[in-house]
Amino acid sequence: MFADPTTFVNQGATAPVTPPPPPVAEILAEGIPASEIRPTVTRDGEDHDRIRRFLVSVLTPRYIAALEPKIRRLADRLVDELPADGRADFVNAFAYRLPLEVVLDLFGISGASGAQIHEWTTHAMSMFWGTFTLEEHLVAARGYVDFQRFLAETVQRARTGSGDDVVSRLVNLDIGGDAPLTDGEAVGLLLGLLSAGHETSMNLISLTMLQVLRSPSIWQRMIDDPSVIPAVVEEGLRFESPAHSIWRKAAADAELGGRTIAAGQRLSVVVGSANRDPAVFDHPSEFDPDRAFDSPHLSFGRGVHFCVGAPLARLEARVAFEVLTQRLPSLRLQPGFTPSYRPNSVQRFLERLDVEWDG
Ligand code: HEM
Repeated sequence: MFADPTTFVNQGATAPVTPPPPPVAEILAEGIPASEIRPTVTRDGEDHDRIRRFLVSVLTPRYIAALEPKIRRLADRLVDELPADGRADFVNAFAYRLPLEVVLDLFGISGASGAQIHEWTTHAMSMFWGTFTLEEHLVAARGYVDFQRFLAETVQRARTGSGDDVVSRLVNLDIGGDAPLTDGEAVGLLLGLLSAGHETSMNLISLTMLQVLRSPSIWQRMIDDPSVIPAVVEEGLRFESPAHSIWRKAAADAELGGRTIAAGQRLSVVVGSANRDPAVFDHPSEFDPDRAFDSPHLSFGRGVHFCVGAPLARLEARVAFEVLTQRLPSLRLQPGFTPSYRPNSVQRFLERLDVEWDG
């Protein structure tokens, strides 16, 4: 499916899992029309390529490598700011903050607190792929529209200013004479980047942390020999699959795995399942950092939409674990902690991760 982006397209593939009932639709009508909100991952063909080319030109390997000292300082600061009583919800105290601050800095976004932007992206993710009660749906819709307004102001400032930051370059991007980016499209792209650029990394860091704290011998190995950390992160990507499912839509009748797919059908491709395929991975349901990856996992997708942020996500997770193992070697799960997950058809959101450490 990944190998055939002409038959299995992205446009129209990510329609909301829970269609908005009338009171929710009323709130959404105050925002930007859904047809204009088109993050990179919802585009196909040349329309997709030109945005992707821009992102690839920003997120170069050299640029990402140069971010390492900054990410390390940030991780250190987040550890300094942990509560003095030696207990915290790791998702809220660390895992979302590190990647969020990195993308806000990367895109030069200011004017709202990180906590506010995180709340908004949480609502945006739920609006696309969540399931909820009407009450929750109304709250998410309001947050989603507020987020659009904030981003619309950011886009306006960038259009009229003379800055050379990434947002200014993006909104003024010459993407072909016939189709300059509209304000709504620029909002949609930013919305996608801020969400994709931190929620997935947050999930990778928190889900991998859950696994290593469940296996104290692995945590101890990471403390004693930090060179094992990249392998732990890679196994975290495979084992937990932070983006566990990817949507596509069949543009034509097709055959896939012996099944007939009719044109127009949407497919939820569960990479979380592929990543535990016993025909590909030995002892797939075991978290094993010593695994030899004869075949790659699919956690960053494959093909024309392969995650442009993959090197950044790997760097953030590696630095996070390098800092945490050295600064908080006594880190452990709080007794009785039981993980729970936010319902979402694409992302695996650990709701909280209650940890403690010796002061
Ligand atoms: C652990 C962290 C991450 C995971 C698991 C992840 C996963 C993915 C996956 C599976 C896709 C492909 C979706 C598809 O084929 O439909 C994707 C695309 C994308 N990711 Fe990531 N991602 C992560 C981090 C990031 C970061 C840090 C950024 C940006 C700073 C980012 C930006 C993007 C963008 C812009 C796309 C769309 C690419 C395109 O359509 O050409 N991601 N990501």
